[in-house]
Amino acid sequence: MNPQKLEEIVKQLIAHGKGLLAADESNASCEKRFDAVGVPCTEDTRREYRELLLTTPSAEDILSGVILFDETFWQSSDRGQVFREILNNHQIAPGIKVDKGLIDLPGFEGEKVTQGLDGLAERMATYAAAGARFAKWRAVITIGDGIPTDECIGANTFTLARYARICQEYNIVPIVEPEVLFDGDHTSEQCEQVMSHVFDILFQTMRAFRVHLPGAILKTSMVLPGKDSGNPINHDEVAERTVRTLHEHVPHELGGVVFLSGGQQPNDAFINLNRIVKRGPHPWGVTFSYSRALQDPVLKAWAKKRTDINGAQNLFIRQLQLVSAAAKGELDESLLDDDSFVSHSQDL
Ligand code: 13P
Repeated sequence: MNPQKLEEIVKQLIAHGKGLLAADESNASCEKRFDAVGVPCTEDTRREYRELLLTTPSAEDILSGVILFDETFWQSSDRGQVFREILNNHQIAPGIKVDKGLIDLPGFEGEKVTQGLDGLAERMATYAAAGARFAKWRAVITIGDGIPTDECIGANTFTLARYARICQEYNIVPIVEPEVLFDGDHTSEQCEQVMSHVFDILFQTMRAFRVHLPGAILKTSMVLPGKDSGNPINHDEVAERTVRTLHEHVPHELGGVVFLSGGQQPNDAFINLNRIVKRGPHPWGVTFSYSRALQDPVLKAWAKKRTDINGAQNLFIRQLQLVSAAAKGELDESLLDDDSFVSHSQDL
């Protein structure tokens, strides 16, 4: 492990006004999203759609990195140029999702653990040799009746910490993602309590497994009321609770913090990020690592007219400009009142 190299990659990823595109949907998630817009989901349609994203002109002004799924990591453009080389040529760091998805935690109804530790060191060596600069592992925490349990939190934080230390052994920056789901009827207060507890256990475990914290990034949800709680999103409350939770429960020497959009409407994901950043200064750089909030309008436009690549790429650039302004705390939120400016996402 070279701590200095890891910290340099972190700095590049969290550069001011820049952030990450999560384009690492598993084939199953991709199928759900393609189904919703009526496009068949095959290896080639996934490649075609992702080529549109990865070759968008000037995206490098805003994207510092892209998280890829294994299939995409090895794929090439129509012209035969390997995607990760295209990214590298534009100073966008290629990243790789390395977990192997969720399975039930037996004995704990409604709770999941993430698999993929077996053979991870060998896979990491291959990705590192092929140019991956960072990786992602997603764990999921569900809030519900009597859950999350400490056993589920413990199982997930153990794998996140083991994964993170394996990444660092190969000078790959680990993004650790303990996503607290938006689904459910919980209150914001419950969400804040759960996230605070998860962070306490996560960082205690990461320290125990000797993860170099300045060379690691946290990917987190925001503190939100459950999607089915009937409570609308109040942007200032989200920002206040999220900032408090992070400042009090995430070690200040960590490399950085990035947010997922988590099924929020794109506008909410942008405004919430803007308000969170405005509440700074923060001990670490804070930015986005969005999938749906950046991609939803683009995917819909592409599905409607697959030959109009420029039109879809222009929409993507527009989303990127909005999120970049939000990541600087400089978003003109009144722009979002105009419905034509940002298409609202359905829950894809
Ligand atoms: P969303 O922004 O759609 O939540 O996706 C981010 C992500 O990578 C979840 O793992």
